[in-house]
Amino acid sequence: MYNTLLTELSNNILVITVNRPDKLNALNKTVMEELSAAIDEVYNNNEIKSAIIIGAGPKSFVAGADISEFVGLNAEQGKALAKKGQNIFFKIENAPKPIVACVNGFALGGGCELAMSCHFRIASDNAKFGQPEVNLGIMPGYGGTQRLTQLIGKGRALELLMSGNMIDANTALQYGLVNYVVAQDELLNKAKSILAVINSKAPVAVANCIKAANAVFDETKNGFELEVELFGKCFTTQDMKEGTSAFLEKRKPNFAGR
Ligand code: COA
Repeated sequence: MYNTLLTELSNNILVITVNRPDKLNALNKTVMEELSAAIDEVYNNNEIKSAIIIGAGPKSFVAGADISEFVGLNAEQGKALAKKGQNIFFKIENAPKPIVACVNGFALGGGCELAMSCHFRIASDNAKFGQPEVNLGIMPGYGGTQRLTQLIGKGRALELLMSGNMIDANTALQYGLVNYVVAQDELLNKAKSILAVINSKAPVAVANCIKAANAVFDETKNGFELEVELFGKCFTTQDMKEGTSAFLEKRKPNFAGR
């Protein structure tokens, strides 16, 4: 179905594998277009309750945007490239279903930005994170300056952004960039076991948690007001009736996602 991605749906979890291992899964135009289409699938396919993004092979999650596509770009083309990339990553960040990055090696430049656009990250112990764009005479363009600062704070973010240095998985854990560090062969299972728990919860409530948490970083929104509004809307759902009835009847809820 895709040329540069592998997708596999099981137990309502779509695993999206960026599949260019000979180029360390660098994000070229095709990968970006296909990633966008795969995320549309996450939005639109009712069988999918959550998704995982991972890189093919043992060495790399995604080693950045494809540097060979930068050659000869002018300012306008550079802006268009960044805008397009940002829009795809906004689509990941604003997805109504959880999307988790399984960082199985290098997450550099656009790869780190892709991981940061996901709702949370789990790393294997060989993972390396960095924004090395300054080595190329450029800077992050797919949201890296914003999300890295949001996630790890300004001082640590600026050190990484300005030096181009990489950090290892344990430093990423200490910085709060990843939630867990596990052995590479446990990475997918760790993500799947967390998503199985989330998938058993009320889908509308889960989607609203994502919306409200994202509002913290959106200047156009008042997160507390949005929380009040979304909290109220939860009371109109069938899931709320099911969740509260199941609790009172001492049984497990069976949510319809409505
Ligand atoms: N864009 C295009 N190709 C890339 C790439 C990228 N971001 N990252 C790696 N590749 C390619 C290499 O060119 C090489 O291709 P080749 O075999 O056809 O020559 C292949 O992937 C393997 O990479 P290589 O550099 O040989 O592996 P390594 O183990 O020696 O080094 C890295 C790994 C990640 C340190 C190194 O590849 C690197 O620095 N990549 C660029 C990272 C970067 O600057 N990303 C931000 C881009 S904005």
